Amino acid sequence: MPEEMQVEDVETFAFQAEIAQLMSLIINTFYSNKEIFLREIISNSSDALDKIRYESLTDPSRLDNGKDLYIKIVPNKNDRTLSIIDTGIGMTKADLVNNLGTIAKSGTKAFMEALQAGADISMIGQFGVGFYSAYLVADRVTVHTRHNDDEQYVWESSAGGSFTVRPDHGEPMLRGTKIVLHLKEDQNDYVEERRIKEIVKKHSQFIGYPIKLVVEKEREKEVSDDEEEEEKKDEETEEEKEKEKETPKIEDEYVSRMKDSQKHIYYITGESRDQVSNSAFVERVKKSGFEVVYMIEPIDEYCVQQLKEYDGKQLVSVTKEGLELPEDEEAKKKFEENKTKFEGLCKVMKDILDKKVEKVVVSNRLVSSPCCIVTSQYGWTANMERIMKAQALRDTSTMGYMAAKKHLEVNPDHSIVENLRQKAEADKNDKAVKDLVMLLFETSLLSSGFSLEDPTVHASRIYRMIKLGLGIDEDDDFQPEAAEENNEEMPPLENDDEDASRMEEVD
Ligand SMILES: Nc1ncnc2c1ncn2[C@@H]1O[C@H](COP(=O)(O)OP(=O)(O)O)[C@@H](O)[C@H]1O
Ligand SMILES: [Mg+2]
Repeated sequence: MPEEMQVEDVETFAFQAEIAQLMSLIINTFYSNKEIFLREIISNSSDALDKIRYESLTDPSRLDNGKDLYIKIVPNKNDRTLSIIDTGIGMTKADLVNNLGTIAKSGTKAFMEALQAGADISMIGQFGVGFYSAYLVADRVTVHTRHNDDEQYVWESSAGGSFTVRPDHGEPMLRGTKIVLHLKEDQNDYVEERRIKEIVKKHSQFIGYPIKLVVEKEREKEVSDDEEEEEKKDEETEEEKEKEKETPKIEDEYVSRMKDSQKHIYYITGESRDQVSNSAFVERVKKSGFEVVYMIEPIDEYCVQQLKEYDGKQLVSVTKEGLELPEDEEAKKKFEENKTKFEGLCKVMKDILDKKVEKVVVSNRLVSSPCCIVTSQYGWTANMERIMKAQALRDTSTMGYMAAKKHLEVNPDHSIVENLRQKAEADKNDKAVKDLVMLLFETSLLSSGFSLEDPTVHASRIYRMIKLGLGIDEDDDFQPEAAEENNEEMPPLENDDEDASRMEEVD
């Protein structure tokens, strides 16, 4: 092929402004945990394999260019490149231009803001911009790709605000994507077999496709194939794989039962079927006539973070902020009125709860519960917090940032909330209001699937309520044993606030 012709074929595109900003941030920020880039690239390959597998269910000919679905990693010490190859769906030219740089994504800005607020770069995938983590280790990235419906193209960028796309006249591919990372000078580590295996095992153990590592001497082997101990691990992984397969199956049924008017797939993640099916979150959605997918395997929490969409339907968590359910005009009007009516109470509650919640807002998702705790779009869910807390090597800085993103929603139609509103309006410094708000908050945490930082403080509040219910006078009562030993009374409950928040920080 004459050289000028190739040059003519090259098209240059500017990255969407925020993406360009994110890329320079990734390149220039000092950050040592760079290894997560591989998890992101592999997860994209896995998504691409899911997509072609899904297409093939209705049209088996989509696999005519290869039935083998796998991911292959090829390190090259001489060129200092690391290539990740998949036989997934691939990208058309339009996909390349749209998905790798020109279409704005809300997660880009949100991720940069999260970083400012102390989030960790490793959370990049949750914000839908994981691909760009390649620039943690590479100064140039080349993406060769072939989609069933298009010719083979190659995308390339050394950051700096632009990328190119041109027809790929190199080694022909049948279908899928090959990402070539031209590693930075000081990132030699990532061409080492031992290091790659270590990272794949650590971060990509739940991938449902074989991950092959091409090692020197042109030997191909599955990543976790040696040593007995590793074989055991492999078995465990296989079990997980089976579970993972079930998720799309449930959704297939779900999708087939969806009403035409239903635009989203609603889901809830949690610890058990009982916990999620009885939760305050599903009541209203079900009342609206929609089904809610229960995701109760630990792996589901990771899956939905990556999946986001299924069969063209957006996956919507019923426990996150901004849940929109179809409402008639009257309900919308009522909701707006309630927002105004309860504005004062929300403010009083936010002042009382202070940093324990991001905000207090009027809810339109509750039926019989007075309150619930929802999490922000990009923060952890209660279930994720539970899973992360259970991790042995949890990152405490991450915990602090993600755990803080809780919103308290109050049900304007609930008698407790209405009564509280009246009390707070009469006297916003009412001591009883303060205590009741704390009690409501802690109870909502529990019913929304969170754990309490300090259960004893909550218990003290409950005992106080029980005493009140029994008509026991605080002064007549004998002191609890521990307090007696210390010869001091139980501290007034509002003072416990400081204790509780201090403990949260330490934790
Ligand atoms: N290996 C791949 N095969 C096909 N498409 C890919 C691949 N890698 C990335 N993409 C495309 O690029 C997009 C951006 O990837 P990424 O930044 O990781 O965000 P996300 O995976 O959350 O969508 C993907 O949504 C997908 O459309
Ligand atoms: Mg991704």
